[in-house]
Amino acid sequence: MAQNAEQDTTKTKYFILTYGCQMNVRDSEIIAGLLESSGYMQANSPEDSDIVIFNTCSVRHSAENKAYGKLGEITKMKRKDPRKVIAFGGCMAQLPEVRKRLKKQGVDIVFGTHNIHRLPYLIDQYRIFGESVVEIWDKEGDILEPIPSVRKTGVSSFVNIMYGCNNFCSYCIVPYTRGRERSRHPKDIIREVQQVAETGFKEITFLGQNVNSYGKGLDEKVDFADLLIKCTQIDGIERIRFMTSHPKDMSDKLIDTIAEHDKLCEHIHAPLQAGSNRILQRMNRGYTREHYLELASKMRERIPGVALSTDLIVGFPGEEEEDFAATLDMINRIRFESAFTFMYSVRSGTRAAEFAQQVPLEIKKERLLRLNEVQYQIAVEINHSLVGNTYEVLVEGPSKTDKDKLTARTRTNHIVIFSGPKHLIGELINVRITEAKTFSLFGELV
Ligand code: SAH
Ligand code: SF4
Ligand code: F3S
Repeated sequence: MAQNAEQDTTKTKYFILTYGCQMNVRDSEIIAGLLESSGYMQANSPEDSDIVIFNTCSVRHSAENKAYGKLGEITKMKRKDPRKVIAFGGCMAQLPEVRKRLKKQGVDIVFGTHNIHRLPYLIDQYRIFGESVVEIWDKEGDILEPIPSVRKTGVSSFVNIMYGCNNFCSYCIVPYTRGRERSRHPKDIIREVQQVAETGFKEITFLGQNVNSYGKGLDEKVDFADLLIKCTQIDGIERIRFMTSHPKDMSDKLIDTIAEHDKLCEHIHAPLQAGSNRILQRMNRGYTREHYLELASKMRERIPGVALSTDLIVGFPGEEEEDFAATLDMINRIRFESAFTFMYSVRSGTRAAEFAQQVPLEIKKERLLRLNEVQYQIAVEINHSLVGNTYEVLVEGPSKTDKDKLTARTRTNHIVIFSGPKHLIGELINVRITEAKTFSLFGELV
């Protein structure tokens, strides 16, 4: 015991700051795995750590600003404690203009999205030579298997099935920061899901920028529906979720597969982005509003009780009031269970950044408010319609807002808060919905 404690104080401590999407959450678990297998241990806070690692996002200006703000704080700490090492990685680090700025800010190590496995070497290099280290790969390398990681504890876990994106939506930086689309082999994914199940997780979420095109480019003939079916056979995993679905690639086979298999949750996140065909075309999304409407009604018809969620952008260059009205019209028709709404943010290097007719900030703000108002109303109405019904939920843990209560998730991704004994955490149980608010439902054990 004493020996362990002594060893621990001699270990180098790391702390990871994670921004952005689930891909980054998962990458941070991999970074943690790499560092721990090199003998590092996790610190409780950036203050307490020897190495602070930024895992960043550049999807919108606001995400970059958050990371820069935090970097200011950490460099201040470093001035008091010069031995603290700052490593900066993730999507921002892939961008040359960001790297110029990092150089001035006193970052010690810069690494990209394609070489996170190199981080332990880069840290060693920095510590031996005492000079800043920048290593970015412009292109994706081969997928390295198996991938070590330290998974966040809980009942649900992320599993990558593919990396990168080939779609080049005109507003989006992701294809530049994450490289070309490539799929993991089914056998590697299945092995990982088995391990995740053995560790005690009951739910997995498959991650990819466009899971509907899974399997393209592999030697084996396999598509996303095939992969899902294989994974429903893995014991211990009770629920399978996935994101993101691209509306242009959503096949009938996939819809029927979700309908037929119990373990596949009836929740589909398929970003619409905009409701007007003119804007969809300028966004290079590859579908029309008519296609999306047909797809939405097909999903609602064939998958009983399905919940649809989406992402929407307001103020894309050239968006006129009538285009925006078309977005409102779409959400009124489709009635998404939930929506993530964003103001268009100029990303330099993307095609839309060069478009004329950028929409003034005031108009973007006003449209976002109007959009949110309509969407909140829809979400409240849907939530109210669930009151009185009983749903199977997976209990995730104590509620964040009320420690005496538990929080759980329905198959359709609704959060339900209820009173119950702690030993229910990790269990699938039934709750009856007693009360509804915009974002949460309250219930009681059945
Ligand atoms: N691969 C996913 C989206 C990943 S980015 C898909 O294709 O659906 C997550 C969301 O961020 C996008 O759906 C989009 O709504 C939003 N987004 C991306 N780039 C943006 C930008 N430049 N400005 C505002 N929102 C943006
Ligand atoms: Fe970005 Fe479009 Fe790829 Fe999604 S599909 S990551 S929005 S380029
Ligand atoms: Fe994700 Fe942000 Fe990169 S959304 S892929 S972390 S740009």
